[in-house]
Amino acid sequence: MKIVFFDTHQFDKNAFLKTNEQFGFNIDFQEARLNNNTAQLAVGADVVCCFVNDKIDEDCINKLKSSGVKLIALRCAGFNNVNLAAAQKAGITVCIVPGYSPYAVAEFAVGLLLSLNRKIPRAYSRVRELNFSLDGLVGFDLHGKTVGVLGTGKIGKIFAQIMVSFGCKVLVYDQREDEDLKKISAIKYVDTKKLCEESDIISLHVPLTPKTYHVINDEMISMMKDGVYIINTGRGALIDAKALIEGLKTKKIGGAALDVYEEEENVFFQNLSDRILEDDTLARLLTFPNVLVTSHQAFLTQEALQNIARTTLESVDEFTKTGLVASSKVVSVESCLR
Ligand code: NAI
Repeated sequence: MKIVFFDTHQFDKNAFLKTNEQFGFNIDFQEARLNNNTAQLAVGADVVCCFVNDKIDEDCINKLKSSGVKLIALRCAGFNNVNLAAAQKAGITVCIVPGYSPYAVAEFAVGLLLSLNRKIPRAYSRVRELNFSLDGLVGFDLHGKTVGVLGTGKIGKIFAQIMVSFGCKVLVYDQREDEDLKKISAIKYVDTKKLCEESDIISLHVPLTPKTYHVINDEMISMMKDGVYIINTGRGALIDAKALIEGLKTKKIGGAALDVYEEEENVFFQNLSDRILEDDTLARLLTFPNVLVTSHQAFLTQEALQNIARTTLESVDEFTKTGLVASSKVVSVESCLR
């Protein structure tokens, strides 16, 4: 069984090579991202293993099919970058790694919130330059504040619970209510309007789907409290970046911490320090002192990488032996409608 990895980084290689000692698959690590132009690198492979910024559209899928690929194994939880209808038509199974470490992402979201609110990155930079002034570093207590959580799946649920432990009141919204969270008195399910109107901080944990695309837009922002903080570890296109910039300029939004960005595929995971940034929207975002951007790293813990490697190779193993992957890991047009 030959697997071609796309968008491979050293941390992927380390985790997968170690895990593959138990499986013995023939792995070809490619640095290129998978898209219509690079799909030919998969010739002779049974499986392609992809990541968040590979662009697996219909043309790419048709090329994968011609190359003999039967399984697209995403080494991540999101799958918004795959045309599932085209994969189904081509007879290619698509699987993900659900919940490899929701703690990694939820804890990082809390880290972003603390860093943004208490201005820890600014303080760190100042002290490195022997500037020990505290001016401009005033934050606020999280204790007693209201935190809105959009999406209470695996990650949002943990984030909400951590916020309760900080002494926050938590307002949550999800199309499916979680019975455990409903038992916690500090957590309340509300509609998105109330969540926007009453939250001091809003954190996004829904997947990117046609329904959630630009869920944070001008209209939603206008409903929010003045000075609201927005944390996004979900997917970049959950937020209309132009509306975010407008909200920051008018000070309606008090701060934003973004681990994901709508156009991140052209920028994130690369060292562009000696180039000119061509993305004007990102360039503008980076000029705000109250915006913190990280390069889609919320998942990046040792535990998460080990779980990703193990689950992905187990899926390939299942597929090799039975032609199927456990339904809990398969994503399809139908599974998205459920
Ligand atoms: P999950 O599937 O456990 O939870 C998603 C929740 O969103 C579910 O409860 C679902 O009912 C809800 N939902 C879906 N569509 C909705 C809608 N239109 N309105 C209201 N609720 C809706 O997923 P999990 O593991 O919690 O991950 C959430 C997202 O986090 C992933 O889809 C991915 O995009 C992102 N992620 C980001 C990472 C990073 O490194 N920044 C790493 C892992 C995930």
